[in-house]
Amino acid sequence: MHSSNGGHATSTASRRQHVELGSAINFRCKRTLRLFRYVAMVVCIPTMATQGQNMAGNFANTLLPAASTLRVGVGYLPMGASFSVGLSGYRDGRLERATQRMIGRLEYESGNPIPRDLVRDAWAAVMVVDVRGQGQMVQGLEEDESYSVQVTGERLTLRAATVVGALRGMETVLQLVQHRDGKAVFPVVSIDDAPRFRWRGLMIDCGRHFEPVPVIERTLDGMAAVKLNVFHWHLSDDQGFRVESKRFPKLHGMGSDGLYYTQEQVKEVVAYAYDRGIRVVPEFDMPGHATSWFVGYPELASAEGPYEVKRVFGIHDAAMDPTRPSVYEFLDAFVGEMTTLFPDAYFHVGGDESNGKQWRASERIQAFMRVHGLKDTDALQAYFNQQLLKILVKHHRQMVGWDEVLNPALPKDVVVQSWRGVKSLGDGARQGYRGLLSAPYYLDGMKSSATHYAADPLPEGMTEAGLGLGGEICMWGEQIDGQTIDSRLWPRSAALAERFWSPREVRDENDMYRRLGVESVRLEALGLTHLSGPQAMVRSLAGEPNPVLLERLAAVVEPVSFGERYDTQQTSQLTPLDRLVDAVVPDPPSRQRIAGLVDGLIADPQHQAGRAELERMFRDWVAVSPGLDAMVAGSARLADAEPRVKQLAEAGAIGLEALGYLDAGRTGTTDWRERRLGSLTEAEKPAALVRFTFLPSLRKLVMAAAPEGSGKS
Ligand code: ACM
Repeated sequence: MHSSNGGHATSTASRRQHVELGSAINFRCKRTLRLFRYVAMVVCIPTMATQGQNMAGNFANTLLPAASTLRVGVGYLPMGASFSVGLSGYRDGRLERATQRMIGRLEYESGNPIPRDLVRDAWAAVMVVDVRGQGQMVQGLEEDESYSVQVTGERLTLRAATVVGALRGMETVLQLVQHRDGKAVFPVVSIDDAPRFRWRGLMIDCGRHFEPVPVIERTLDGMAAVKLNVFHWHLSDDQGFRVESKRFPKLHGMGSDGLYYTQEQVKEVVAYAYDRGIRVVPEFDMPGHATSWFVGYPELASAEGPYEVKRVFGIHDAAMDPTRPSVYEFLDAFVGEMTTLFPDAYFHVGGDESNGKQWRASERIQAFMRVHGLKDTDALQAYFNQQLLKILVKHHRQMVGWDEVLNPALPKDVVVQSWRGVKSLGDGARQGYRGLLSAPYYLDGMKSSATHYAADPLPEGMTEAGLGLGGEICMWGEQIDGQTIDSRLWPRSAALAERFWSPREVRDENDMYRRLGVESVRLEALGLTHLSGPQAMVRSLAGEPNPVLLERLAAVVEPVSFGERYDTQQTSQLTPLDRLVDAVVPDPPSRQRIAGLVDGLIADPQHQAGRAELERMFRDWVAVSPGLDAMVAGSARLADAEPRVKQLAEAGAIGLEALGYLDAGRTGTTDWRERRLGSLTEAEKPAALVRFTFLPSLRKLVMAAAPEGSGKS
């Protein structure tokens, strides 16, 4: 979906991130602090770096998302050879499977074998999971996901009203593990936790590029680890129809290049998600973004075919014909078939970016609009949605659509997913529609975790709080494939998971990054490849097993935004995704690391350790240049990186010169400053579809070495 070029200014503009920077005070924790002020051994950890309390009682808090209430006591529960687990209260297969997975991960984390047999008398076990009931038959918005964890020196007790609550608690338990004196332990803590939002989603577009089942399943593992609870599966678009339909076999048969999920695979994914407390909401985009349907069934379209699978991205004109009863008969049978695969109460019908061109060009459709008093194509799309809604209701499903579906002609139980801006969420809410916010959560903008993290799912001033169901991260598929998706999703999605789960007041960016670094490694251990995947690609690009030279460059560049890449490359479905831009990651640690070192040095020129690290880095950038030059010159896949290699060496030289001035207590000349700033400006220009992460910091360093107004020229 999602138009991709300057020709569609509205949607491109809508991808501009909305950033809110709010206050950083955790009121809930302040309250808790007051309560416990006189309990000497208990400290509230609000996960707020501003309060400097990330370590208490020797407990390094790396919970992500942060729990709504966490109290830390003194001491540990060892996870030694005698560790055991028992289930008390309600139990079922889902809970037992989750318990076994947790034991496996605890074992991995602790290095100790843990008995797989659950203790028969649950309360004799070291860890007791005490669950009240099954929860909803089909997990829905009302599912109780709350849980509590109590750790004493003798026992860990996880309590939850539902199995899903217990699953959330198990992830917290796994994040509590500490290593002390060569042993794995749980800190003595007391946690009460529940989500802020009921809908904490992640959308993956498998239409533009197909994502194999193992990719989807490891993504579900990652989602569960950070308590996301809705997988929105975008299954059809102009570039592909990805589900097997037995009723209409030409959908996947002619619209997918053979890349589709069989019905058995869909059931497997839905079951996999259910086991992790994740709902699966399918999306079949209509009436636009539907070319792949028309390859096999051109009679659904508003203009005569033939049609073929689109390779080019953006907005295409093909749209379903809203005037034909046969289209609705088809959709009725199709939705009926799909509801046998997807038990969720919600069904996403897309609705975005239908440009109305085929409708305006058709005499027949224009006549239909006149007869039905439909004044424009928006009204015709609302008419289409009304018919579609009847079909969904018949099949016991509620409609979700992108914000284009917002129209007073539709009843208030339609859920509106805001993507073109935060405004549509408020507009919908004022009219009584429930909404999901996605506009600030488009990962293909290649923005930092901090930028996404700053945007609240309930924008300032939106008073209809109950109508904001939550947020959804969007991972569009134009510029990713199975090899690169993980590094675009993670760890940024984990930062957003906290935004959707934790209290609004948890918003300290530095503390989020501290915990995100730890969670990122945990996610990789769980099977995600956001760290190893890019490393493997760098090896492949360099053509050597230990590509130290190329790693130096890769560490300090990140991909340009979706729009910039599209404009430069005209990326299509046929573009190989195997360049430097694909091997590097958005928001790499280098930006913060270098910024921290430079700020530290400017604040304290005697800061020797930081200075030495900067110097080493700058020297490296210069030193790798000849080798890298030779490498890029000889490689078809790296050739476009040639200017970046030169700029890296120049940046290294500039950094060394600046350090030299600062060391000597001398001031660089105005001429030096202007030439160096000029080089850095040059390095800001587009090249190789990547941008440097360190330019603002290096600029600062140059300015510190030759301040304006120092009078030297
Ligand atoms: C969208 O990005 N077109 C929903």
